[in-house]
Amino acid sequence: MSEAVLTIQSHTGPYCARFDEDGLERLDADVPAGAHFIIDAKVADLYRPRMAHILASASVLLIEAVEPAKSLERFPAYVEHLVAQGLRRDHVLIAIGGGIIQDITCFLSATMLRGVPWRFYPTTLLAQCDSCIGSKSSINCGAAKNILGTFTPPREVVISTRFLDTLDLRDLRSGIGEMLKVHAIAGPEVFADFAARYDSMLAGRPEMIKAIRRALEIKQGYIEGDEFDQGPRLVFNLGHSFGHAMEAATDFAIPHGIAVSIGLDMANWMSSALKIGTEAHWRAGHGVLKKNYRGFETTPIPLDRFLAALAKDKKNKGAGSVTLILPDAQGRIFRDTYPADAAFQALCARYLTEVRAS
Ligand SMILES: NC(=O)c1ccc[n+]([C@@H]2O[C@H](COP(=O)([O-])OP(=O)(O)OC[C@H]3O[C@@H](n4cnc5c(N)ncnc54)[C@H](O)[C@@H]3O)[C@@H](O)[C@H]2O)c1
Ligand SMILES: [Zn+2]
Repeated sequence: MSEAVLTIQSHTGPYCARFDEDGLERLDADVPAGAHFIIDAKVADLYRPRMAHILASASVLLIEAVEPAKSLERFPAYVEHLVAQGLRRDHVLIAIGGGIIQDITCFLSATMLRGVPWRFYPTTLLAQCDSCIGSKSSINCGAAKNILGTFTPPREVVISTRFLDTLDLRDLRSGIGEMLKVHAIAGPEVFADFAARYDSMLAGRPEMIKAIRRALEIKQGYIEGDEFDQGPRLVFNLGHSFGHAMEAATDFAIPHGIAVSIGLDMANWMSSALKIGTEAHWRAGHGVLKKNYRGFETTPIPLDRFLAALAKDKKNKGAGSVTLILPDAQGRIFRDTYPADAAFQALCARYLTEVRAS
């Protein structure tokens, strides 16, 4: 049974994010004509019996969900596959996987034949609670992460939390990292309430579904008001300037949402260190954030590589400065530009080597 539906407004019209625990089985029982599946190879292995018709259908592309798979350099093979399968504009791409499969499918949807519709069955918590709505595709090129992209909403998103049964704990925590971000944006009280439900959410599916829905509802308010990331939506990059730099500096040894959790903690601490926010705000979040990034408190993050990656952040306005999304003294999230001087670099070093594990 469908449990709930969110209707998201986008520049191409409304689309639904539907909670349906049997969504995969329903799709397998009724594979649409003209469907081209793009599926996480690990998910196909794990769920083979439940997607037998899908996997036996005419056009199936299995992709190992590793970060290089969403590099521009890999796209000729995807395009050739879809061309060989006779892709037409009245066909549909159906993505089954996490954020990597989403980004690949969304980018192909935007660019092939100047537009082919796509639908999404997110299989990771990160994709279910955050990335599945919001229209963005983000593709890597060379060493530049998420440097190419489009705003291409799906026609439909179908969320089944049964996929989470097989997700590694680190990938679950990666998704929770994005939820922590979304709730931090909604304000300190909302964040504290979410933090208090951390354990029950991991222990029980109804709590998890509620949390996913709440995270999507908060995000919905921002993406409907600013789908193209021109103003209010930019706060969704909270934790991401630092987080992306950590991912890049470690060759993606830290999963995205875990890096975002560390990035949130670093943003709270940096705000206090720069006398913009308060130490109390950093302390209030530190417990749950550290709990979420445990196992990565001491992962080496080379400072030179971290700073080099931070300097390349898309939000920056010029050399020698860095644009950050930080909490103010009331915990409200805002964006500003700061000098990336020796003092700032020393604070980064202190956070990475001492504060992160404290
Ligand atoms: N476009 C956007 O709006 C957006 C937003 C956030 C993140 N992203 C991108 O998403 C990517 C991260 O995505 P992600 O964390 O969802 O995961 P992922 O796609 O990187 O997958 C993580 C791991 O989980 C495995 N997996 C997927 N579903 C599974 C399941 N049900 N059971 C067991 N294993 C499963 C995958 O094979 C992979 O090993 C990054 O590249 C990030 O940049 C995009
Ligand atoms: Zn993210």
